[in-house]
Amino acid sequence: MVFVYFRMMIKEKILVIGACGQIGVELTLALRKIYGNANVIASDLREQNPLLEGTGPYVSMDVMNKEMLHVQVIRQGITQIYLLAAILSATGEKNPSLAWHLNMQSLLNVLDIAKEEKLTKIYWPSSIAVFGPTSPRVNAPQQTIIEPTTVYGISKYAGEFWCNYYFHRYGVDVRSLRYPGLISYKSQPGGGTTDYAVEIFHSAKAGEQYECFLKEDTYLPMMYMQDAIRATIELMEADAKKIKVRTSYNLSGMSFSPKEITGEIKKHIPDFNTVYNPDYRQAIADSWPQSIDDSAARKDWGWKNEFDLAAMTKDMLENLR
Ligand SMILES: NC(=O)c1ccc[n+]([C@@H]2O[C@H](COP(=O)([O-])OP(=O)(O)OC[C@H]3O[C@@H](n4cnc5c(N)ncnc54)[C@H](O)[C@@H]3O)[C@@H](O)[C@H]2O)c1
Repeated sequence: MVFVYFRMMIKEKILVIGACGQIGVELTLALRKIYGNANVIASDLREQNPLLEGTGPYVSMDVMNKEMLHVQVIRQGITQIYLLAAILSATGEKNPSLAWHLNMQSLLNVLDIAKEEKLTKIYWPSSIAVFGPTSPRVNAPQQTIIEPTTVYGISKYAGEFWCNYYFHRYGVDVRSLRYPGLISYKSQPGGGTTDYAVEIFHSAKAGEQYECFLKEDTYLPMMYMQDAIRATIELMEADAKKIKVRTSYNLSGMSFSPKEITGEIKKHIPDFNTVYNPDYRQAIADSWPQSIDDSAARKDWGWKNEFDLAAMTKDMLENLR
């Protein structure tokens, strides 16, 4: 009771780093609805995304500049940070050292500041890219053989253990989800191996044929953005006692192949067609599981996905402009 009263007294002030990316835009808007526009500060290296304009404060900032970040946290009275800045799987393979540097140092900067300033909560996403070719391909469990072969996957796995370390050693309440490939109509994807599942809708809506960079039978774990945002907020709102996994939770929505999603789109646009021209991203996709077991998230904090392939396809085609 005392705890609840104390929590109500704390006015949360949230900093979203990487707010102009595929997840950041929608997460910032969702957080602003809950916490109030003025209490959610969006920040990014790039120019403000037009969808964020006029919805709340925006700060242009490089997360690699730890001093600047620290100053902002103090000046703005930040209590929570959502760290979304990263280099994703496909882009990471083109520049491995940059991906490692950004993905690791950004997290360490945030965790250090969280420890020093005693921030109430930190969110940092991991990815199904932590799994590698030696992990089970179907229903990859929470704990299993994890030997990633991409620099992105290596950085995410290392990051998970930094989160776990800061929680146990310093009491930093950092929480994490292993997102599958995310599909959204508001903002564009940022260089991942699952980006095809967003591009395909743009081609379908434009009345064009889609040239897919993965083979037709490549099954990958995917999730609609609405589900991912809800999962993130539900994890962050959950009582700390319920969060048993302090590395990162497996999270699952659906699993499909390029051929299957093409078939689903054809139910709405019968003339739509996909051709297949696999590139370097096929090897990345082949190293990942086809589906994920997220029973720990379901059991610990009540996660339940809503969107399947049919519901997502209908919603994407209705909303994509
Ligand atoms: N989108 C997915 O399918 C997916 C799946 C699994 C995990 N994730 C993870 O979720 C997080 C967000 O992913 P996303 O898809 O929104 O990525 P994104 O590439 O769309 O967005 C990342 C944002 O970070 C910004 N950024 C990059 N370097 C920065 C820096 N030095 N300082 C400040 N900002 C910087 C970029 O400008 C960009 O707006 C990442 O950690 C990613 O690994 C995403």
